[in-house]
Amino acid sequence: MTPTVQSFFDEATNTITYVVIEPQGKACAVIDSVLDFDYASGHTDTRSADLVIAYIQEHGLDLQWILETHVHADHLSAAPYIQERLGGKIGIGDRITVVQDTFGKIFNEGTRFQRDGSQFDQLFREGDSFHIGQLRGDVLHTPGHTPACLTYVVGDAAFVGDTLFMPDFGTARCDFPGGSAEALFDSVQKIMALPDETRIFVGHDYKAPGRDEFAWETTVGAQKALNIHVGAGKSREEFVAMRESRDATLAMPRLIIPSLQVNMRAGQMPEPEDNGQVYLKVPVNGL
Ligand SMILES: [Fe+2]
Repeated sequence: MTPTVQSFFDEATNTITYVVIEPQGKACAVIDSVLDFDYASGHTDTRSADLVIAYIQEHGLDLQWILETHVHADHLSAAPYIQERLGGKIGIGDRITVVQDTFGKIFNEGTRFQRDGSQFDQLFREGDSFHIGQLRGDVLHTPGHTPACLTYVVGDAAFVGDTLFMPDFGTARCDFPGGSAEALFDSVQKIMALPDETRIFVGHDYKAPGRDEFAWETTVGAQKALNIHVGAGKSREEFVAMRESRDATLAMPRLIIPSLQVNMRAGQMPEPEDNGQVYLKVPVNGL
């Protein structure tokens, strides 16, 4: 089955949100939504999420799933905002518990912050499946960028999050807490084992040197042949050495501090303090 895939590109965070629609049906899922956040003022905005909501409403679609490929470090999730308006279950990988444990400590969240994934409606494991109407989705656990990363394979389309980027850009960094270049290489092999014609939809695009347009759709065959980090038979050792030396040069994403605190709570803000105000913390020299 070939789902219809509608993409929404957020230029502020280079994130692509996908609406995945059952062919000849009304059911859909949203993958990796964005809540706009202006760090300087501490203000949120729902402009990006509202575009997705309007699309779903205009097409009379039934939103069944709001999926996250992982706990994003570069944008805030709009999953609860979308759920409040359109329904649907919020899903993520079951290894979210590891991510919650790691960042629960870093942000000193205390005992009120549950580290059991209970903020999400569904925790997926390798081999799980789910349905978007008649359309079946299969779950691959593809850690490396984070321990909880998933790839959602829906019909002939694979939503790989930050595991693979476009072939000319390569792969995602593996240096966040719990990341592993070795694990990422192995996860990529799992994706590469899908049929060559499988459409791959990546989680971000930054334009590669020499490319003028943003792009986010490719295929397994193209990744195998052309991916500059893992294609054309690159060895695990070569990849790990390249990835680790490159990661050592990368700055932290601009929104990592707010993103982690919100996304590890399934997109909810922390509880308000006793004055009714919500705060996000900055761990000084803690990340
Ligand atoms: Fe990410």
